[in-house]
Amino acid sequence: MNAMAATANVPTLTPDLLTGTEWGAAQIRELYHLAADIKARPERYRSVLAGRFLAMIFEKPSLRTRVTFEVGVASMGGGAVFLDHTQSRLGERESVRDVAKNLDRWVQGIVARVFEQKVLDELAENASIPVINALSDGFHPCQALTDFFTLEERFGSLRGVKVAYVGDGNNVCHSLLSIGARVGAQVRVATPAGYEPHAEVVTEARRAARETRGRIEILRAPEEAVAGAQAVYTDVWASMGQENEVAERAAFFAPYQVNERLLAQADPHAVFMHCLPAHRGSEVAAGVIDGPQSIVFDQSENRLHVQKAILLTLLG
Ligand code: CP
Ligand code: NVA
Repeated sequence: MNAMAATANVPTLTPDLLTGTEWGAAQIRELYHLAADIKARPERYRSVLAGRFLAMIFEKPSLRTRVTFEVGVASMGGGAVFLDHTQSRLGERESVRDVAKNLDRWVQGIVARVFEQKVLDELAENASIPVINALSDGFHPCQALTDFFTLEERFGSLRGVKVAYVGDGNNVCHSLLSIGARVGAQVRVATPAGYEPHAEVVTEARRAARETRGRIEILRAPEEAVAGAQAVYTDVWASMGQENEVAERAAFFAPYQVNERLLAQADPHAVFMHCLPAHRGSEVAAGVIDGPQSIVFDQSENRLHVQKAILLTLLG
C-alpha cells in the first residue's frame, strides 16, 4: 500500500494468520520491528489503514482481543464491524462458506474467534481477504506473538530465553510452542498426565526450533520446567467451552499452581506471565499475579501494538 511508503518497512507475509506456523523467524523479526515503531510513534500510522474495514466474528467472549483489534484498526484510520456469535455458532444461520463469500465483498479482513480451527480454515478457503485467528481451540497466535515481543522488550533478546509454561496444554500453550520455536526461545512445558499439548504441535515446534537453535521440552514436574527460567507462564485450567470440566480439572491441576514457592525456583529476575483472564487462587496465587514480577498488563498493552503491526502487514 502506497500510504506505507512513509513508514517503517512492512514485511510481506502470507495473507492469513490461522495458526502462527505460517510465519518464519525473519518474518516475525520484521513484524516486531514494525510493532516497536508503531508503539514508539503511533502518530505516524494514523491514516495508513484509511478506508480499510475488518469484520470481527466472535463465538466466545473477549475483552483484550476485541478492544485491541477495534482500537487498533480505528487508530490507523480504518474501522471494524463486530459480529456477535456468542449466542449462535457461525454457520447456523447460513453456511460458513456463504458468510466468507459475503464478507469478501465488503471488508478487507476477517478477525475470528471460533470454537473449531476448521471454521477458520473454511473462512480462509472461501475469502480472498486475510483471515486472522483471534483464538480457536487449537491456537492463539496473536497472544503468543505479543508475548515474545514483550519478552524481547524486557530481556533485549529472545535467543535462548527460557520460558516455562505450567498448566494445561491448550491453545495458548500451543502458540507459545509454535512461536517460541520460531524466535529461538527455550520453551519448557509442564502439564498433568492427559493434558499435554498435542503431539503434532510439539513435533512441528521441534522442527522449527532446529532451524533457530530454540528448544522445546515437554515435562511433567512444574519445578523442573521452572528451574532457572526467565519467564513463568500459566493460563486457566479450563478454557472457554470447558466450563463443565472446572471441578474435575481443579483436582488434576492443583499441583501446577504458580505460587510464590514455585516462582522462587525460577531465575531471580524472572517475570510472571498470563494471557488473562486469570483466576487468582487457582492457576496463579494473588501474590504472584499482583506482585512485582508480574508483567501481565504489559502483555495486555502490547496486544494493541503487535496486532496493529499484524493488521498493517496483512491489510496495508
Ligand atoms: N488474552 C485474551 O485473548 O483475552 P480476551 O479473551 O479477553 O480477548
Ligand atoms: N485458554 C484460554 C485463553 C483465553 C484467552 C481459553 O481458550 O479460554
